[in-house]
Amino acid sequence: MQETDIVVKPRGVMPQGATTLPAAYYTAPDYFQREMDAFFGRMWVCAGRTEQVQVPGQFVVRELVGESLIITSAADGRVHAFYNVCRHRGTKLCTEEAGAFPGSIQCPYHAWTYGLDGRLIGAPHMDEVPHFRREDYPLHRVHADVWDGHVFVNTSANPPPLREQLGDLPSKFTSWRMADLQLGHRIVYDVRANWKLIIQNYNECLHCPNLHPALNKLSHYLSGENEPLHATYMGGRMDLRPGVATLSTDGTCPRAFLPGLGDQDRRRVYYYAIFPNMLLSLHPDYMMVHTLWPIAPDRTINICEWHFDPQELARPDFDASDAIDFWDLTNRQDWGVCELSQAGISSRAYTPGPYSNREDLLYAFDRMIVNLHSLKNEER
Ligand code: FES
Ligand SMILES: [Fe+2]
Repeated sequence: MQETDIVVKPRGVMPQGATTLPAAYYTAPDYFQREMDAFFGRMWVCAGRTEQVQVPGQFVVRELVGESLIITSAADGRVHAFYNVCRHRGTKLCTEEAGAFPGSIQCPYHAWTYGLDGRLIGAPHMDEVPHFRREDYPLHRVHADVWDGHVFVNTSANPPPLREQLGDLPSKFTSWRMADLQLGHRIVYDVRANWKLIIQNYNECLHCPNLHPALNKLSHYLSGENEPLHATYMGGRMDLRPGVATLSTDGTCPRAFLPGLGDQDRRRVYYYAIFPNMLLSLHPDYMMVHTLWPIAPDRTINICEWHFDPQELARPDFDASDAIDFWDLTNRQDWGVCELSQAGISSRAYTPGPYSNREDLLYAFDRMIVNLHSLKNEER
């Protein structure tokens, strides 16, 4: 497709003085902490997939707002999340990142034992203690819920329902039947950049022709459309160029399209950043999910997964290297510029720079962040 084939829709003009944020938003520990408290400590955070806790006792451990959390499932299939802290003398229960409990969770110190639903079921020598009641010492629970195969946790005391945070996303993405999809590949990236730079980079494709020539060849950077910013997510779609079947190393698609998709969605890729930590990229034949795990103002662990239709995965000749290599290359290009941004923003020479009219989503996201910081300041 020629550049001229793209219909460029008129855009609103940015307000005068619409600039990027001051450096402190990306470098200062107190800004980082406020964002961790207000976003990661209050919102529903995407922690993985039900597939990872499918069998009762299967677990993953996640670090969230400085806390270690165990996510597992009980015999009734319900997903549970707990602080990784023994109720006896506080010992960290589980030191592995993933695995399977043998029907219960046992503390390595004095063998207090908990059911997969968190109940204390064994406490050696505590029977001798007057007034001790096991039911008073379940594992400290964290809220957990599931959207279409994605597991979410929330560490706040009384969170609103997950559905409220997701807004109209569940109905928008029903056709992808995400719960049915299965993991094909996972790469964990350690990105030396602030978590917001990764979200912002994900939501603009002005950089695509320059940074991702391979991507731009398959999907024109000005194609598609963004939605205005929502309180809990932002995103939009891009269109595949004529003759391109999916985002892969050569633009062909060796897999069947996902079974629920209509003609239109087979020609598009949807990119949604679901705050605070999930980047959901829906392709005609696969789903890519990034989850972001900030650990410092200038460092974010970024787990990237590719999920496929189980029928395709089961094929003896299944090979997803075309999709994985394509996005691994693109991911590395992205994280590379995020790290360069972080480095430049950390310089004393940095001053906020002007946004173009095509960076309106980023500006809206920044305004949300600024509001959050001012609200938190008022709370003090
Ligand atoms: S600290 Fe866990 S059993 Fe003692
Ligand atoms: Fe990019």
